[in-house]
This record gives sequence, C-alpha cells and structure tokens, in this order.
Amino acid sequence: MREGNTLDYVLVIDFGGQYAHLITRRVRDLGVYSEFLNAESASLEEIREAIKGARGVILSGGPSSVWEGKHDHIARIVVEEGKPALGICYGHQLLAKILGGSVGKAVKPEFGPTIVSVKAREDPLFNGIPETIVAWMSHNDAVLQPPQEAVVLASSHGSPIAAFRHGAVYGVQWHPEVVHTMFGLKLIENWLKLVGVERNWRPEHMVDKLIESIREAVGDGIAIAAVSGGVDSTTASLLAKKALGDKLIPVMIDHGLHPAGEPWRSVELLKKIGLEVEVVDASNRFFEALRGFTDPEEKRRVFGRVYAEILEEVAESHKAEYLVQGTIYPDIIESGRRPGASVIKTHHNVAGLPGEFKLKLVEPLKWFYKDEVRRIASKLGVPKEIIKRQPIPGPALAVRVEGEVTREKVEVVRKADAIVREEIESEGLHDRLWQYFAVLLNSKATGVKGDNRVYGHVIAVRAVLSVDAMTASVARLQWDLLERISSRIVSEVPGVVRVVYDITSKPPATIEWE
Ligand code: XMP
Repeated sequence: MREGNTLDYVLVIDFGGQYAHLITRRVRDLGVYSEFLNAESASLEEIREAIKGARGVILSGGPSSVWEGKHDHIARIVVEEGKPALGICYGHQLLAKILGGSVGKAVKPEFGPTIVSVKAREDPLFNGIPETIVAWMSHNDAVLQPPQEAVVLASSHGSPIAAFRHGAVYGVQWHPEVVHTMFGLKLIENWLKLVGVERNWRPEHMVDKLIESIREAVGDGIAIAAVSGGVDSTTASLLAKKALGDKLIPVMIDHGLHPAGEPWRSVELLKKIGLEVEVVDASNRFFEALRGFTDPEEKRRVFGRVYAEILEEVAESHKAEYLVQGTIYPDIIESGRRPGASVIKTHHNVAGLPGEFKLKLVEPLKWFYKDEVRRIASKLGVPKEIIKRQPIPGPALAVRVEGEVTREKVEVVRKADAIVREEIESEGLHDRLWQYFAVLLNSKATGVKGDNRVYGHVIAVRAVLSVDAMTASVARLQWDLLERISSRIVSEVPGVVRVVYDITSKPPATIEWE
C-alpha cells in the first residue's frame, strides 16, 4: 500500500501483541492512515524504511520480555530517526530501556481494569483526560526507573512509571486501544495531534491508488476474479475491472452451497455494474469432495482445495495468471497469516489455498476492514443491496451445517435461513444487524407433530451486531419475532422439530458455528 505513494501514515510495529491490529484500527478511525508491520516477519530493511517514511511510530505490546533484547535494534532506529513515538505496554518498556531507564519484574503484575493516576495533566497527551482513569493492563514487567530527563506522567499500583515522556517519545503501560480503557481513544487522538499529522484520510480516497496498484501488479497479464456477490469480492473485482478492462474475467463458482435465491440474484446485480460474470456449475464436485468430512477445519480445507482447483482450470482456459480476490484484513488476521497470531479459522480464500497454487494473488483490499470496504464500494457505485449484504463465509452453507455436508442437510438449512432472513428483513432490522442466519445442528431432538412423536433436526438462529466481525454481541431480537421465526421454521421446513436462539457473544464464541 505504502509503496511508491506519498501518503502520510502512522506505523504500528507489531511485537505479537493481542491487540496490535486494534491500534491500526483506532488510528484509521481517527482519520490517519495506518499500517502495521510485524517485527518477526518484516525484514530489518523493510522496518527501517517504514520507520523513516512514517510521521509517527507506535510500538505495540507483545509477549516477549525486554530483557531478551530481541527488539532493541528496532526501538533504537525509532529513537535515532527522531520520530514521534508512542510505546504501548511492551513498547513502553522497550523505549524506556533504550533511552536508559530500567525494566524489571513489576512489584505487582496487573491484568485487566487497573486504576491509573495521571500526574502530569498539563502534558498535551492527557488533554481532556481526568486525573484518575480505569485502564486495561496486562503485564508482568514494568518500568522501574525512568530514563534520565524523562518526565513521569502517570502511575498505578503496580507500575510507578505507568507513563513517561522523553522528548518526542511517549510510553504508556496500559492499552489505550482497548475499549475497556477509559479515554483510550482520546489519548491516541492527543498523540496524533502531537505528531502533527492531518486527520483527513478516508478509505474511499484510496480508490485511484488501489486501481493503479492492480494495474502495476498485473501489467500486461490476464486476471480472473473470484466473485461471490458479497461486498468484498464485488469491490475487489470492480477495482480490477477499472484497472484491467477486458483483461479481467469475473468468475462465480456455483458450489451448490449458496443461500436461497443465489447465485442468480447476484449475477443480475453484478451485470448492472458492468461485471459480466462467468458462472461455473460445480456443485457435484463440491458435494463429492466434502463427503465423509465432519471436522470444520477439514471441511474448509477441502472446500478451499476444490475451489482452488476450479479457479486454476478456469484461469487456464482464459490463459490467465492472476487471481483477484476480496480478502480483507480480518481474514488475514484470523487465518493466522499474521506471524505470531493463532489460527482461529482457516478462511478458504486465505490460508485454505494450497501451497502450490499456480495463480498469483492480487488482493487489493487486504489492508481494509469491512466497514472501510463498504465505504470504498459506495464510492465505486456498488448497489446498496450488495453493500449492505451480510457477509457469507467463503464455504457458505457448508459451515452452517454441522458435521458432514449432504444435499439434504444443505436444503434444510437453506429453507430455515430464508425464513430467518424474510422475518428479520420484514421488520426492517437488516440495516442494524451485522449477520443473521440459521445453522443446522448435528444433534437431534424429540417433538410432537400431529399427535405423533417425531425425532428430528434442531436449527439454531444467530443474529449479531458488530462493526468489523472481530468482536460481536448478540442481537436482542423481540420475543414475538423469535417466536414467529421458530414456528415458521418448524412448520415449513420438513424434518425440523426445534429452534434455539444463540445468545453467545464473540469472544468467547465466533460468529459462525464452525
Ligand atoms: P467468525 O465465525 O470467525 O467470522 O467469527 C468472522 C466473519 O468472517 C466470516 N467468515 C468467513 N469469511 N471465509 C470468509 O470469507 C470463511 O471461511 C469464513 N468464515 C467466517 C463470518 O461470516 C463473519 O462475518
């Protein structure tokens, strides 16, 4: 993204902290473009260049201890370059150490909400922040001695030097990026003001650059685009269409696992925005390949493998070498493509592709969150119906039937899902919910239908609110609505005897059941 452009940015150096991606998120929400580089995977040269070009640098938290000395050289570059910096947790300790302070075992490790006393309220970092705040902490080590000439700005019970300033360098022991920290966003906003960077970045301003980057990546080549009808793949394909014209072939694979009415509704909508999609009928291949697999991760991998094979075949028939796909940032984080992060789910379009995949990937949206993609889509004139469409996982209904995937089970969940959609949409709630769908469970339950005992399927209904799918809360649907959904599913979908509502947030659950 950064290559060859003059965009002002704040660099987040990720030392493997759980919340590192949230820092980037917050900075962007405040109108400043931000990217992060992982300290383990990026080369020293890359890191040095990125630091040099940045307006300011944030050093994230991380599981290491600064005694190990693993990242001293990185902090040193930041200081030597004289960049305005903000160290968070591990980053705070690292900067303190490099500037001559001392770091050791905290008198009292602090985890979770912690009271912090702000001592230097006159410092612009604490502008508008009260003297006492509750901040989210997670540390065993602490800064024990501040660097010489540093000003101690805040303290807590377990960290006497919970915040300091040394010239253009700030450090805070707590996590301002986490929502549980009071005035966390305000602190980041204050720091951006100190950096002096203008807060005028908007994701939709990136359209021309994205088009240009696709053009550069593909050159004179030919690309196919994997389209699903969702906002991510539509936006990626439309950008590619603008970049490549006829050298882009949008392809939709009909895997037989789409929700009701699809893929044809999408094909129609896409046509209206100039994407003539080639539909490949491959449902038999998918059902055959998925037969016998019950483990969710295996199902994803099988789906991914068949999907990749078909894409390679289609590409070959068009002599295309490139594949444009709508991978977005959370897909990358949750598939564990970010070194140091754990694999939550193998998203078929990210980690699910086989290692020996022949096509070169073009992923113009891989740095963006979903809400940012929606803004880019809107700028490109993508129809509202697509922009507002709820996300469907790549393997679609294959991960919405628990256990083995069969045509019969998919049909059951498809019908139940259509009822959930109809009822929620007729209440006008679709704009407010992130996702709402049905899942066919692997267990069976007893019921009575027409005076007879029946032993049949259980459907779980899920409806959640979210901003970017990284976290989600349960939608408090009206009881009447839930009852209507339940009674319609039980009476209209053959074989279903029971409906339950999922009331688990993410975390600890994920949005999808598999
Ligand atoms: P989870 O279930 O991990 O889902 O909380 C987060 C968001 O990602 C969607 N999802 C997927 N998207 N391929 C995708 O492209 C996948 O394999 C996949 N699995 C989950 C999910 O619907 C939610 O919006």
